[in-house]
Amino acid sequence: MYKGKQPPNHIAIIMDGNGRWAKERFLPRKAGHKKGVDAIKKAVYTAEEYGIKYITFYAFSTENWKRPKDEINSLFSLIEEFVNKFDKEFKGKEYRINIMGDLSKLPDDLVLSLNSICERTKAFDKLIINIGINYGGRDEIVHAVNKLIENNKTNISEKDIKDNLYINYLPDPDIILRTAGEKRLSNFLLWQCAYSELIFIDEYWPEFDKDLFDRVLDEYYLRNRRFGGLNA
Ligand code: IPE
Ligand code: IPE
Ligand code: MG
Repeated sequence: MYKGKQPPNHIAIIMDGNGRWAKERFLPRKAGHKKGVDAIKKAVYTAEEYGIKYITFYAFSTENWKRPKDEINSLFSLIEEFVNKFDKEFKGKEYRINIMGDLSKLPDDLVLSLNSICERTKAFDKLIINIGINYGGRDEIVHAVNKLIENNKTNISEKDIKDNLYINYLPDPDIILRTAGEKRLSNFLLWQCAYSELIFIDEYWPEFDKDLFDRVLDEYYLRNRRFGGLNA
């Protein structure tokens, strides 16, 4: 529990600034991504400590294919290493992992590791960790619509779209956090962001830690969420 307050149910994070963090230290971009994985672990532990139920990380967008091949490969290796070491790192924690995105374009070995971690953790619910890999908000909506067409659905409702998103039980995020000063969504959770509180901080993702998490929550609790209604 954070300062005795009701925690947000779901925080979703656009982890940005790994490259800039590395550049400022005269390190290769890869070193920034590696340090970014440590920040993910800190965020996960802190989320659980505060009683947050869902945490979503944007790890690779449908647009990130525009990057050099060796950077893409190092990102995929880090993701694979993270999921392969997951059981050891979070032993006894009962965290569930979900992957969201179009996995059909990812390397076979990575897909095997991803499917395996989802399968191994699917009975857990202490904290639901979602990772967007080859994820795009537009792609997700198109994917949902195509599934509805395949099922001969007509007169599509909002609920139909929601039920056909990559993770159909994922609640909308209360917070969408982006690090590294950029103030845009970059195709993240376009359906789900309708009433999310958007929080932007200047620090780079590899710097993210519990103090920054606290600052984000402080900011969140100052927000007045009306959802189109009037103040209570
Ligand atoms: C975020 O850091 C990681 C991914 C997008 C995968 P960046 O790699 O975008 O870092 P900057 O924005 O170049 O600093
Ligand atoms: C968004 O970051 C994607 C991820 C964090 C995976 P980018 O660094 O790719 O976004 P842009 O290009 O600055 O919008
Ligand atoms: Mg970036």
